[in-house]
Amino acid sequence: MTAAINDDLTELKSRLAEVIDLGQAAAILGWDQETMMPPKGVQFRVTQQETLNGIIHERFTSPRIGELLQKLEEPSVLASLSEVDRSIVRVARHDYDRATKLPRSLVKELAAATTRGVEEWRQARRESRWDLFAPALRRIVDLKRQEAACLGYTDHPYDALLDEYEPGMTTARLQPLFTHLQQETLALLDRIDQAPRQIDRAIIQQSFDIQAQRAFGEAILRQMGFDFEAGREDTSTHPFTTSFGPTDVRVTTRFDPNDLAVALYATIHEGGHALYDQGIPVELARTIVGQAASLGIHESQSRLWENFIGRSLPFWRYALPVARTYFPDQLAHATPEEIVAAVNRVARSLIRVEADEVTYNLHIILRFEIERQLIRGELEVDDLPARWNQLMDQLLGIVPPNDASGVLQDTHWGSGLFGYFPTYTLGNLYAAQIWDAIRRDEPGLDEHLAAGDFRVVLAWLREHIHRWGRIYEPEALIQRATGEPLNPTHLTRYLTEKYSTLYGLS
Ligand code: CO
Repeated sequence: MTAAINDDLTELKSRLAEVIDLGQAAAILGWDQETMMPPKGVQFRVTQQETLNGIIHERFTSPRIGELLQKLEEPSVLASLSEVDRSIVRVARHDYDRATKLPRSLVKELAAATTRGVEEWRQARRESRWDLFAPALRRIVDLKRQEAACLGYTDHPYDALLDEYEPGMTTARLQPLFTHLQQETLALLDRIDQAPRQIDRAIIQQSFDIQAQRAFGEAILRQMGFDFEAGREDTSTHPFTTSFGPTDVRVTTRFDPNDLAVALYATIHEGGHALYDQGIPVELARTIVGQAASLGIHESQSRLWENFIGRSLPFWRYALPVARTYFPDQLAHATPEEIVAAVNRVARSLIRVEADEVTYNLHIILRFEIERQLIRGELEVDDLPARWNQLMDQLLGIVPPNDASGVLQDTHWGSGLFGYFPTYTLGNLYAAQIWDAIRRDEPGLDEHLAAGDFRVVLAWLREHIHRWGRIYEPEALIQRATGEPLNPTHLTRYLTEKYSTLYGLS
């Protein structure tokens, strides 16, 4: 590498590091708003965030970054860089193009339309009145279609939006994965309907003291390997994880005094996200590849801990005696099998965020269908409630009694988040494939889990997923980690085996 190239690379990295610092400072303001801020704080927090985000956008889209990228992208220059530096140039180009291709006027219109959109969605859901949200959504869909056109795509306009959350993912790639998943899930669900065994949730639906629940959750989180010297857990309405660098990762949970599963699984889920964020190597932390590979990969980490581990029998062999120290009366006669059944009950239900592991993906497939059609102009916003109910009937066999528990249930569309939903199911697909790879590499896994020893799992994830940050695109990362491209049969086989046992299916 010549001195000139070295100077360009150093300048690019230091400009990007500044943007990352500012982004993490904005994230602290966001975390504070959700956990600590008094209600009146919102008045000035909004302008603080606007100012900071304006500065971040301005710094990141500076023409100087474009110049540096262009110089570093010269084939002979690129070839002289290390693998990590090449990926920094590639990822910076990806994000720089996305940030600069949209005209200022469109960005402003989108910000205004989604700020209003969320407010109108909130009221529409409260009153279960679609007509209160439809005009705002029409505007947002129109702007998102303009956004897709500006960003560009080869095949389908939806691809341009997917790429924001799952770099490299396309509609054509998703379609067969989701079709396979849909067919297998519908067949499994039919068999569960006819199951000889019914599941009772009474054991987890008792009175559980909230302070004791908090202490129990923290004990589990610590056992998973979460570093409380490099993070903390607080309470918020909607649980989330946020990172200000690998040495300061915050998770939140929420409590239901009459349901042990709510806080525990929020904690384990967010804990899975947090272990990923704490596992980003410190030397990558202030670089543009010092973050998750994608939302789907991030979600694979949370779902792996929450479902594949936290809802398994080996886990409860370890966790029940721990839980009993906090809830000796409620759990005096409980068995691990009884709790595993209770936390895995399958039900055809209306609300995505309350769905079980089997039906969850059907809720996502429904939204993928609708989003794809909306963005390509094959479905009008006015026809959305009817289409929603028709798909619910077709996929889940139930029709919402009103729009609040149907088409109005999620905040995503009012916020302009099109292309986001598929990453939840991608997370499940990646998790199942990763889980099979871990099981293959660690034959004694169940014994480790039953002993509360999660170190082999964390070590595997650190080595194959966490340490790579965003150096590889999601599918390349999965291929390297597991030895094959994304393959949906890992998830469908896991679900069929697990639920056949739970429900006594032959
Ligand atoms: Co998550």
